[in-house]
Amino acid sequence: MLKVTVLVGVIAAVLFPAAEGARAQGGALAENLAYGKVVAESWCANCHVVSRQARGPVGDAAPPFVAVARMPSTTEISLRAFLRMPHARMPDYQLSQAELDGVVAYILSLRPAR
Ligand code: HEC
Repeated sequence: MLKVTVLVGVIAAVLFPAAEGARAQGGALAENLAYGKVVAESWCANCHVVSRQARGPVGDAAPPFVAVARMPSTTEISLRAFLRMPHARMPDYQLSQAELDGVVAYILSLRPAR
C-alpha cells in the first residue's frame, strides 16, 4: 500500500509540473485573446466594430478594430499607451492589467498576415 502511494506521488510529481508548465505557456495567449474578445464585446462594441467579420461604420468615427489593427502605426506599445490615457471621445475605462493585455492581444490578432 505504501509502495503504491509513493509510486503515485512520484509519478504525479514528475508528470504534473511539466503538464502545468506547458498549459500555462500555450494557454496564456489563448486565454488573453478569449478574455480580450469578451472585454471588447462588452465595453468597446458600443462604438467600435470589434469583430473580424463585421464591417461598416458604427456611430461617430470610432474606427473598427480591424482598421485599427491594419494601421501601420499600431503596435502593442501604441495600443497600450493609447488605452492608458484618457480620451476625449472615449470613456476612460481604467482597464485592469489583465483587461489591457487581453484587449491588446485581441486587437493585434485582427491583423492580416503581412
Ligand atoms: C463611447 C464610444 C467609444 C467606446 C465605448 C470605445 N471607444 Fe475607442 N474610440 C472611440 C472614438 C470616437 C475613437 C476615435 C478617437 C480619435 O480619433 O480621437 C476611438 C479610438 C480608439 C482607438 C485608437 C485608434 C487609433 O486611431 O489609433 C483604439 C485603439 C480604441 N479606440 C480602442 C478602444 C477599446 C479597446 C475600447 C473598449 C475598452 C474602446 N475603444 C471603447 C470611441 C469609443
